Amino acid sequence: MSPNRYVFSSLFLAAALCTKVLQAADQKPTLLVDADHRTSISLDGDWHVIVDPYDNGYYDFRMQPRADGYFRNEKPDASGRLIEYDFSKSATLKVPGDWNSERDSLFFYEGTLWYEKDFQYQRKPGTRTFLHVGAANYLSHVWVNGKKACDHEGGFTPFDCEVTNLLGDGNNFAVIYVNDQRRADAAPTLNTDWWNYGGLTRDVSLIETPQTFVDDYSFALQRGGGGSIGGWVHVVDAPAGTPVIVKIPELNISQRASTDAQGRAAFSFHAPNLQHWSPENPKLYDVEIIAGGDHLKDAIGFRTVEVEGDNILLNGKSVFLRGVSLHAEAPYRSGRAWSEQDAETLLGWAKELGANFVRLAHYPHDERMTRLADRMGIMVWSEVPVYWMIQWDNPATLANATNQLREMIRRDRNKASVVLWSVANETPNTPARLAFLESLINTAHTDDPTRLVTAALLVTTQPESPEGIRTKVIDDPLGKYLDVLGSNEYIGWYEGTPDLASRTRWQSKYNKPLIISEFGGDAKFGLHGEPTERWTEEYQAEIYRQQIAMLKQIPFLRGLSPWILMDFRSPRRELPGIQDFYNRKGLVSNEGQKKKAFLVLQEYYKSLATQPR
Ligand code: GCU
Repeated sequence: MSPNRYVFSSLFLAAALCTKVLQAADQKPTLLVDADHRTSISLDGDWHVIVDPYDNGYYDFRMQPRADGYFRNEKPDASGRLIEYDFSKSATLKVPGDWNSERDSLFFYEGTLWYEKDFQYQRKPGTRTFLHVGAANYLSHVWVNGKKACDHEGGFTPFDCEVTNLLGDGNNFAVIYVNDQRRADAAPTLNTDWWNYGGLTRDVSLIETPQTFVDDYSFALQRGGGGSIGGWVHVVDAPAGTPVIVKIPELNISQRASTDAQGRAAFSFHAPNLQHWSPENPKLYDVEIIAGGDHLKDAIGFRTVEVEGDNILLNGKSVFLRGVSLHAEAPYRSGRAWSEQDAETLLGWAKELGANFVRLAHYPHDERMTRLADRMGIMVWSEVPVYWMIQWDNPATLANATNQLREMIRRDRNKASVVLWSVANETPNTPARLAFLESLINTAHTDDPTRLVTAALLVTTQPESPEGIRTKVIDDPLGKYLDVLGSNEYIGWYEGTPDLASRTRWQSKYNKPLIISEFGGDAKFGLHGEPTERWTEEYQAEIYRQQIAMLKQIPFLRGLSPWILMDFRSPRRELPGIQDFYNRKGLVSNEGQKKKAFLVLQEYYKSLATQPR
């Protein structure tokens, strides 16, 4: 079998797949909040895989979906039916993991890959079972014991398929179809500046719950300084009037409420002596939720975040977000980050920088990341992959992006560290885009009225004045709907030389806080030269020096998240000997080596920590 068998031209495939968005008929999974604290059976480890570049397992030769999903792990049997695959004889890949960085021949592969896992299970009376997938990039179809369980679209949010009635006692097997083909109507769409890592990129497990169980809840400190905690708990299949108890033992709090006809129990109670979560004091409280036969535990921090004019207030006090952006790229080994170690390394470097804030770009990162940010006291900007050129006038694309946004919010709504939801990055200023994003912003505010909504905007540059001063103006109409303005700028890299920053002034049409959500430049670690020589560490450090001087002049600047903490893989970066498929704008190389600019930013953040602006 020729090794290049797997890198088929995707033209034929793309045509076939264009029809492959999730149809209404597909089985929609749920999303169990606090899944990582529930009793579960891990299915991580080796899974048999079949690489299926022609989507042969899903479509017949007329490219019609096979009636019952071909690769359902039917064993060649006496029926004499022709079976042309056999998972048990197929190679394996590790889960969690992306196929690109695990097998060289799949490095560039975009398409369909089938995963299969055999496992033992004993059903328990009165117990429901869900197949939990932390994330699968990008489109998934799930079967258990040959029967369809669910479908999911979106590569960076979890989903839970109920499999109670599909499981048997003893031998069971799961088959998961994952396709990461980029599509014009998807989110993200065809063009991105990150590697399209495909596969079951986060944990897979079986989660057990009682018949009636808690699938979602929200507890947050109410704005206005009253010290009261408000929230709700949703109990699935609970008759109205079902009692729900919430306990915060450390505060001697035990509150009781009952579900309404929709299974929702509302809470509002005073919490004396509550310590507010903040970067300086990332206090988390054990919270217990008891409803029906269900008993959930979570670790929740309580804080308020709001805006006041062009200021951001954390717990009612002005806060400056000393940040850095990062991709979910695994340090040292590259590939999609997922482990506790990956999170500790990346947030450890951010902490070392003196950061109290990270922008998790451009999609929701592993839940371990936001859990760790909760514990380390690092505020988080979390974003959906509405990036560059989305099909703004396509209702299916809006529904897809809305679903990803809602899943992102649902998974992390009880994470105190998450202070900002971002609905977009560098999107064109058109009426269709404005309507699309306005809809997402409304959804975010409705699903979570306790946090701020932002987006990374592009800004216009006014022509130079006779004195050589040029002005950046934030006047994107989207700014009207955002709580916090984000702006990406690359003065000194895509725009002129580093010293141009010293002749740049900033204005905003809005009396709102600004976060410079990206700035920076590429440097290959160890490449040295004059500060005027691109790609050298000296040039990158000079960009940072000039940027910091410029940013200090912006009165409504309330934070920054330079691009980027660590070099990351990108198919758009091919400069031999320097990029080699890495975007080199990291302050740290992908092998953990700190570049000179790391020290420049660290020094600035240290000064800000002692003299906040
Ligand atoms: C853009 C974009 C990033 C990209 C960066 C770059 O602004 O948001 O995703 O990686 O610029 O060009 O390095």
